[in-house]
Amino acid sequence: MNEQLAQWRMLVEERLSASLDRGPDCPARLQEAMSYSLMAGGKRLRPLLVLMACEACGEEIEVAMPAACAIEMVHTYSLIHDDLPAMDDDAERRGQPTNHIQFDEATAILAGDGLLTLAFEIIATEVQPPEVAAACCADLAGAAGMTGMVGGQMADLQGGSGNAECGEEGDDSAFHIRTSALESIHRRKTGRLLCSALSMGGRIAGANPQTLRNLTTYGESIGLAFQIADDLLDVCGDSETMGKQVRKDVEAGKLTYPALLGEAESRRRAEELVNDACRAIADFGSRGQRLEAMAHYVIARDR
Ligand code: IPE
Ligand code: IPE
Ligand code: MG
Ligand code: MG
Ligand code: MG
Repeated sequence: MNEQLAQWRMLVEERLSASLDRGPDCPARLQEAMSYSLMAGGKRLRPLLVLMACEACGEEIEVAMPAACAIEMVHTYSLIHDDLPAMDDDAERRGQPTNHIQFDEATAILAGDGLLTLAFEIIATEVQPPEVAAACCADLAGAAGMTGMVGGQMADLQGGSGNAECGEEGDDSAFHIRTSALESIHRRKTGRLLCSALSMGGRIAGANPQTLRNLTTYGESIGLAFQIADDLLDVCGDSETMGKQVRKDVEAGKLTYPALLGEAESRRRAEELVNDACRAIADFGSRGQRLEAMAHYVIARDR
């Protein structure tokens, strides 16, 4: 990560930490559990994308900082809940014990709830003007909700072994059904939230409808590529580098890209999506450089 991005990342970290200080009505244990996961590091990809989109549209990044923090809160809540025993049942996240292991399940559920709701409070009260705040709330809620991340998580839980094994070997139409079901899961559980980072950044910078569409196309493409890379890292990655358990997807019977298409074809699709993403932001010219580099990083990463 270059120096400028490291600096942005630090600014995000500072704002995230300050935003958890909400006064004595928040029980200490709840605040501790929220902070434990939120401040545990992580790549901060979604907040950086909010800032990058805002900058590419010609605005100072400071105006996008509340939305950047908000999306990281929604993302962190999704990780806390994703790791719960009733979901993926994971013991490690961001290089430390998962929230429910460090605290307990009820606290982890509430820490997630606290982060999700705080995100919308921050956008509603800190994004200006109020019309843009409302548009960002709707954008993020749509991306995170029943037809976005939450819907994708439900489909992921339902789709695991059942879908992965449906259809006969060599049966083209069954294969096609499974591939599009998988793409739809990934676009919802991961792609929509990533995409909202781009569209919120654009909205805050006052982007016109065509620019917003270009940012959205970029976001959809890297969003799907990001989850394909995550599936590949579960197979090929190193748990110490990743800060989370690996080789869990096969064991859990998850429908994933490498399981369905193999590693080489999964990589090829991810590369194709990165190229699509870069084409979508061509109009930004040199102002789109950071976004272009980020698109490549999304699939080249080792964590
Ligand atoms: C992990 O997201 C969950 C997925 C959507 C695949 P990240 O890989 O962005 O996790 P952090 O934020 O860096 O911990
Ligand atoms: C998670 O997908 C997507 C979320 C909405 C959190 P995974 O379940 O594959 O993410 P990891 O591998 O646990 O980070
Ligand atoms: Mg999951
Ligand atoms: Mg998981
Ligand atoms: Mg995964």
